[in-house]
Amino acid sequence: MINENQIEETLESLFDNIEFSDEPSGLYDPLRYMIGIGGKRVRPRLCLIAYSLFKDSFDEKILEPAAALEVFHSFTLIHDDVMDNSDMRRGVPTVCRKWDSNTAIISGDVMSIDSYRRIAKAPADVLPEVLGLFTTTAAQVCEGQQYDMEFEDMKEISMESYLKMVGLKTAVLIACSAKLGAMIGGADGRTCDLLYKFGYDLGLAFQITDDYLDTYGDPAIFGKKIGGDIINNKKTWLLTKALEKGGELEQSGAVDQFHGRTALLRAMEMKTGNEADKAAKIAKVKEIYETLGIDEDVKYEIIKLHAQAMNYAGMIGLSKVRYEMLHRYADRLLGRNK
Ligand code: IPE
Ligand code: IPE
Ligand code: MG
Ligand code: MG
Ligand code: MG
Repeated sequence: MINENQIEETLESLFDNIEFSDEPSGLYDPLRYMIGIGGKRVRPRLCLIAYSLFKDSFDEKILEPAAALEVFHSFTLIHDDVMDNSDMRRGVPTVCRKWDSNTAIISGDVMSIDSYRRIAKAPADVLPEVLGLFTTTAAQVCEGQQYDMEFEDMKEISMESYLKMVGLKTAVLIACSAKLGAMIGGADGRTCDLLYKFGYDLGLAFQITDDYLDTYGDPAIFGKKIGGDIINNKKTWLLTKALEKGGELEQSGAVDQFHGRTALLRAMEMKTGNEADKAAKIAKVKEIYETLGIDEDVKYEIIKLHAQAMNYAGMIGLSKVRYEMLHRYADRLLGRNK
């Protein structure tokens, strides 16, 4: 059986040795930069773990599709940083800051195309299904990103809309990573579907953790500027929950209008023209979150989704060592601070 150390070593050498075209360097240097600056490799790791549940050795028919997941993900981040106007990623300047937005657009595009070249290396017998899943997933990520942008201009969204949006922008790619590994590993349809569901719930929890860290993380570890979501009025889990809970508590009289929904709606309108304005808005929103106990609620939500994901993993009928590999992956994914 392939063990986790082998998976880690394989991931390291996969991305240390990954090759992109040389010329024009203005197009391909940002790809090398994005892959070179690291990242947690969450998606290819899950793909290799899922594959390892069924196979005993790696070859390029799994390694290239696993790399494709990371290349595709990194492409979405390059474009996401333009859309979110972000300065920092993985502890260094974003492509749109180190170069410019035009570079981010075209280098992102070619990165997306590169991911298709790699995914097409999947074994011929499963290639149609693999390509179908990957293509559906890629379109869904764009749909989720569009909702994310449209929601910025809305005062409030329902928790159901939030879950739909993050399901699309984040969870489907993590779900797809698990399912692809299983498909290429030769697992049956039921098992592939259970691994998809496992990945989907973990993916929801992963994005909710990202929302939490965007407000409460340590920028030196998280690698991104803190408070960007608050500045952009992003409809994060925290904001969605706070508007909902703040409204209920304000109505029952448990909190006054300076600490509930009314205050939060007012805080969302605060100006963000300079660094002092931004800091004031972030501090105000955090103060309301803390009064409402949102910083604690979010932790329960993540634990609940983790348990749901493990429930799907439990239904596969894996041996104890294999199940525990999934368990450790899930723990590591959600216990993160970066
Ligand atoms: C960031 O993804 C975007 C989200 C979906 C939350 P990651 O947190 O996996 O970013 P890297 O690849 O480790 O930088
Ligand atoms: C996830 O959303 C981005 C993608 C699915 C590409 P975020 O906008 O929250 O991701 P970060 O925080 O910038 O990494
Ligand atoms: Mg975004
Ligand atoms: Mg972003
Ligand atoms: Mg984020």
